[in-house]
Amino acid sequence: MNIKAFQSELKKRNVDFALFYNVDYDKTNANMFYFSGYKGIGALIITKNKRFLIIPKMEIGRVKGIKAYIWDKDHRLFEFVKKKVKGKVIGIDKNVFTLNAYKEFKKQFKNVKTVDISSICNKLRAIKTNEEIGIIKEACKITDNILKKCFSNFKKFRKETDVAAFLENETKKSGYELAFNPVVASGKNAAVPHHAPENIKLKKGFCVIDFGIKYKGYCSDATRTIYIGRPKEKEIRLYNFLLRMQKDAIKNAKIGKKCSDLYNKVNEDLKEYKKYFTHGLGHGIGIDVHELPNLTEKSKDILKRGMAFTIEPGIYFKNQLGIRIEDDILLTKKAEILTKTKKGLMVI
Ligand code: GLY
Ligand code: MN
Repeated sequence: MNIKAFQSELKKRNVDFALFYNVDYDKTNANMFYFSGYKGIGALIITKNKRFLIIPKMEIGRVKGIKAYIWDKDHRLFEFVKKKVKGKVIGIDKNVFTLNAYKEFKKQFKNVKTVDISSICNKLRAIKTNEEIGIIKEACKITDNILKKCFSNFKKFRKETDVAAFLENETKKSGYELAFNPVVASGKNAAVPHHAPENIKLKKGFCVIDFGIKYKGYCSDATRTIYIGRPKEKEIRLYNFLLRMQKDAIKNAKIGKKCSDLYNKVNEDLKEYKKYFTHGLGHGIGIDVHELPNLTEKSKDILKRGMAFTIEPGIYFKNQLGIRIEDDILLTKKAEILTKTKKGLMVI
């Protein structure tokens, strides 16, 4: 969390305070969590020199290291916020503020100017602090361990959903959360990058497994493609070709590099296969599984020290096969690979 940098951005833009809120028990407001470590419902206020939460009484046990006011339920949330902080220019996160909440907010805060602060938050979050780096590294280690266990048990699995259930169970019984629903895509399903595992027998051929966990609020995201049955020579060649693209892209991920250049280089090197590469080369990981930087053709992002992101080229032949290899990378002096599950084609 880089609160000082955020507050100096507020000063620069003459914003009196930033307001974050969450009213959904099933969700976490990522920016609120980033700046407060708090995951429950309520509001977070950040002024140029202060930071405090407004939360229901029942949530007090979740607050650590930040002042919190108890929100009495006689007041609507923003009505209570108004009692605690004043301002004429208010920063809000337009990616999270719903239209209904905004109407309610404007009822309480008349004649104020709102400024969107989402991109300030996103840019700060893209550069990880040492504490965040430690957490992401651990998330990747846990992911590797679960994947290893999954592959050593693979012969026991009959269906795509058996594999997904194993990954989910291993995650949850160890006390972690899934970062997203795992992809287990066998046979021609592997041609669908985000295939949802089906209650069907695992098919022969490439099987794409995309899995990530959340540890202390931070995500990992790794993909391995294994082969069920006996691969043909040309399938092995195709796999190794993509693996080389992935390794080269990691080598090319350097401080100061344009993300679009990194993407374009892979696209160029894929030659006649480039039309089968149907998604971005990667994305930042952190509190959200997809955050800045974007490693895509049109991205304006530049790689910077402290960024954590995926490199995940894929090739998909519709109704036939798919291969994707994805690692999580931390950019320090050079690109450090955080997910260490082996990448040579595993045949099962
Ligand atoms: N692992 C899911 C994704 O990156 O889209
Ligand atoms: Mn990914």
